[in-house]
Amino acid sequence: MSESSIFPAPLSFAARATVDSSRLRQMKDDALHHSEQFWLEQAGRIEWASFPTIASSSSFEGEVPINWFADGRLNASVACLDRHLAERGEQVALIWQGQDEGQVERLTYRALHERVCRMANVLRGLGVGRGDRVAIHLPMVVEGVVAMLACARMGAVHVVLFGGFSAEGLADRLVNSGAVVVLTADEGRRGGKRIPLKPTMDEALDRATGHAVRHVLVLAVTGIETSMQAGRDLALAPLLAAASPECAPAVMEAEAPLFVLYTSGSTGKPKGMVHTTGGYMVWAAYTHALVFDHRPGDVFWCTADISWITGHTYVVYGPLANGGTVVLFEGLPSHPAPGQWWQVIDTHKVTTFYTAPTAIRALMREGDDVVARHSLSSLRLLGSVGEPISADAWLWFHEAVGRGRCPVVDTWWQTETGGILIAPVPAAVPQKPGSATLPLPGVDCVLLDEKGRVVAGEGEGCLCIARSWPGQARTIWGDHARFRQTYFSFHEGYYFSGDGARRDADGYYWITGRIDDVINVSGHRIGTAEVEDVIATDHRFAECAAVGVPHDLKGQGLVVFVVPRGGPDGGLAQEAAQVISRGIGRYAAPERVYIVPDLPKTRSGKIVRRLLRKIACNELDALGDLSTLADATIVERLIMDVARQG
Ligand code: PRX
Repeated sequence: MSESSIFPAPLSFAARATVDSSRLRQMKDDALHHSEQFWLEQAGRIEWASFPTIASSSSFEGEVPINWFADGRLNASVACLDRHLAERGEQVALIWQGQDEGQVERLTYRALHERVCRMANVLRGLGVGRGDRVAIHLPMVVEGVVAMLACARMGAVHVVLFGGFSAEGLADRLVNSGAVVVLTADEGRRGGKRIPLKPTMDEALDRATGHAVRHVLVLAVTGIETSMQAGRDLALAPLLAAASPECAPAVMEAEAPLFVLYTSGSTGKPKGMVHTTGGYMVWAAYTHALVFDHRPGDVFWCTADISWITGHTYVVYGPLANGGTVVLFEGLPSHPAPGQWWQVIDTHKVTTFYTAPTAIRALMREGDDVVARHSLSSLRLLGSVGEPISADAWLWFHEAVGRGRCPVVDTWWQTETGGILIAPVPAAVPQKPGSATLPLPGVDCVLLDEKGRVVAGEGEGCLCIARSWPGQARTIWGDHARFRQTYFSFHEGYYFSGDGARRDADGYYWITGRIDDVINVSGHRIGTAEVEDVIATDHRFAECAAVGVPHDLKGQGLVVFVVPRGGPDGGLAQEAAQVISRGIGRYAAPERVYIVPDLPKTRSGKIVRRLLRKIACNELDALGDLSTLADATIVERLIMDVARQG
């Protein structure tokens, strides 16, 4: 695909779009030259109890104070629900499609409001107060969304935990967040498999020394019997049934935390990114409206799990703040048979479909005839997020799924950014397959070279942001020093994304991937340090190094080199893989583990991961300069070991 391939929005789409190129130009200009006024206008997209009079007085220097709409007061659940009751109380807010065809639940805004109030009252009844953390560990069921909004309603801070985390992974996050109540389920369904949630949570709580959890609320999803600890564990259904369907919302400061969400970085344990209420909600509504060209009547389906930032912003807060209808799907793309997702699109007349390149690649492999069997005529816009999308996957999405009629928005953003930063506003910015295109109005992207110098015009560098935007995370839970160090120390005054990017002659951004030690496996962020730390806690292993290698379906795969303490031994590779799954979660299971006698190091003792990556990829002709190694003979041994272990 040449960079000159360019796809303007089809006329049928552009004719009805809300933001055209002249409007976009105006917005960019206003955001740049009249920023206070521009952002206060954007704040009007959501409902406030007391409208802010100031936009921001943030700085990326010194203590990195970030604040938006600081004198405003609001409640995020009111902005998502109550606000719509008068005008569209009977409109469907949420369509839940269960794994089996007949399992469908449609909740109007009024019904969702009632469910949220009941849940908020249950939490209040358990003594949960403003600012308390509530952990949500649920599969893709209505209660997951309800629980998030219920926390928001009563001013509690939700901490959504992925169902795929191991007990150890959960334990760390429970202790770090200080959660006082946990919501979990007996089991989750994943195709033909059952994911034990409550038993994993029990194990996590046993391990979590110093946790603050007083109660575990258990939702019956499959109805299997689960052990309940007297005094601590409570069945959720009877409490919800007995709770009042009305609940006065807590009026929160704009800068009150709305949620903490953990993500992996290049060092240490996962960090709890703190997102606050006003700025995040404005960003969710603004980006959802702009990038997805939201209109009344849209049925928006974002396939992300609610435990990831994409699920937070584009399953829950963005579309609901804008009064949309969202689809929440419990199942997998190809269960019970290929084509399941296309079926969901046709059944629920989805207009806007937002998914990840890893899924697109898997669906592409099923062959064009699977997708061609479905009408997909309701679709008008497609979106991609989470990893770079290759031009061929982009084109397939555009042609085979969108039938050439739907713009494809490739959206670049991160857990830390709260919402989309770079993406085409579909009717105004022609798309180039593989490029996230241009920053949204108000997003000041800069490329810096390794010395921190600004790259002007065409060029490549580290993607940084020069000015605060409302949706950005304010801090790392309990560790502001780490926040400053991780994101603002690369070059003072700039937010450092950790991604590399290239800017072409049209100013379009092409994300090249992480430039730090973070890898992206099927859209899951994994820190190589996280993997190495888990292995290091096991006495059988002396040392290890984790690297990411290209993978056809997953984008990247994890390859781990392990040095055993007591010399090579038969089953050690498998055991190392299990240690990783147990310590982090199944999603981090490595592609390959190599047991090796030693690791390549520089004279100062640093592991040379670049070399390991090349060996793992079998790129033996391009090993580069080996003269910096403390012991260059190790390389040959490594190559032989890797070839032998296959
Ligand atoms: O490397 C970038 C990649 O995903 C990282 C963020 O991961 P996470 O915080 O889990 O959030 C994922 C959903 C927003 C980024 O640093 N990434 C995300 N979107 C894109 C992308 N890489 C290329 N193109 C994208 N559109």
